[in-house]
Amino acid sequence: MDQFIAKLPKAELHLHLEGSFEPELMFAIARRNKVEIPYRSAEEVRAAYRFANLQDFLDIYYAGASVLLAEEDFFDLTRAYLKRAAADNVRHVEVFFDPQTHTDRGVPFKTVADGIWRALCEGEKEFGITAKLILSFLRHLPEESAFATLKQAEPYLDRFAAVGLDSSEVGHPPAKFARVFAAAREAGLKLVAHAGEEGPPEYVWEALDVLKIDRIDHGNRSLEDPRLVERIVKDGLTLTVCPLSNLKLCVVKDLKQHPIKRMLDLGLRATVNSDDPAFFGGYVGANFEAIAAALPLTREDLRTLAANSFAGSFLSDAEKSAHIAAVRAAV
Ligand code: ADE
Ligand code: ZN
Repeated sequence: MDQFIAKLPKAELHLHLEGSFEPELMFAIARRNKVEIPYRSAEEVRAAYRFANLQDFLDIYYAGASVLLAEEDFFDLTRAYLKRAAADNVRHVEVFFDPQTHTDRGVPFKTVADGIWRALCEGEKEFGITAKLILSFLRHLPEESAFATLKQAEPYLDRFAAVGLDSSEVGHPPAKFARVFAAAREAGLKLVAHAGEEGPPEYVWEALDVLKIDRIDHGNRSLEDPRLVERIVKDGLTLTVCPLSNLKLCVVKDLKQHPIKRMLDLGLRATVNSDDPAFFGGYVGANFEAIAAALPLTREDLRTLAANSFAGSFLSDAEKSAHIAAVRAAV
């Protein structure tokens, strides 16, 4: 099964660049920037990666990102992710970055955007991976801060495919960002939002009806509401599901209880993604392998998941068709 998975061409649609920050690179960049980190080794950092919930993880994730200061740091972070993704036969990525995590520390928006962008452009040539970039707003901050970020992004709008919404979900419902999402849509961007990861099905309804999103990040808790499932199926929306993330953040107790097989059986367009692979123990290939080991997924299911990753992307119809034909040809 693992060989079958390795052969499948894949797209990754839910990946936080800051969440791909491996401890070894964190140490190297901290040294380069003469920043102190409260760990003595990469092993010690990994040992600290035990989370009871999303907030536990976010506290460590933001602390790790604080060593990123220079354009070269954002370049190195992005390049390392693309190199790792290529090893998993990933052909296309749509990746998030959190500008506010950096601009709030005094790092200029341009420094972040230029480093990431240069790595994505070079990565297409070096690794054959096409990329789209998603500017994600932090939902624990006020909507005014998201508006300020959208304003900073204006000179670079052609680099961004979409805006997203991430960070602490419960207590920060999608409607809090109704106006800034409308402005992003007006600016020609696609819209995605984390919804139903820890938050209730009502947050997914709000993301659909108020934000009018084009794709749902996570969406696990949608399954608690049959009318919501019916709506997502009818609209043909994609869910970017992250199995190892769900396990590590205690969204599921055991991968045997992971809902991704049920999602497929309900007719939902589910995809497999790694979310924050440096923190959750695996990149997209490992996520496929983990669900294939835990759930009664058939080869046809795995092929569907790979095809869904392209179908649910923001590529053109012609590009999607070419990739989906490659999925079929590969297996
Ligand atoms: N930021 C990085 N990973 C996240 C996740 N899984 N949920 C919400 N915000 C995040
Ligand atoms: Zn995420």
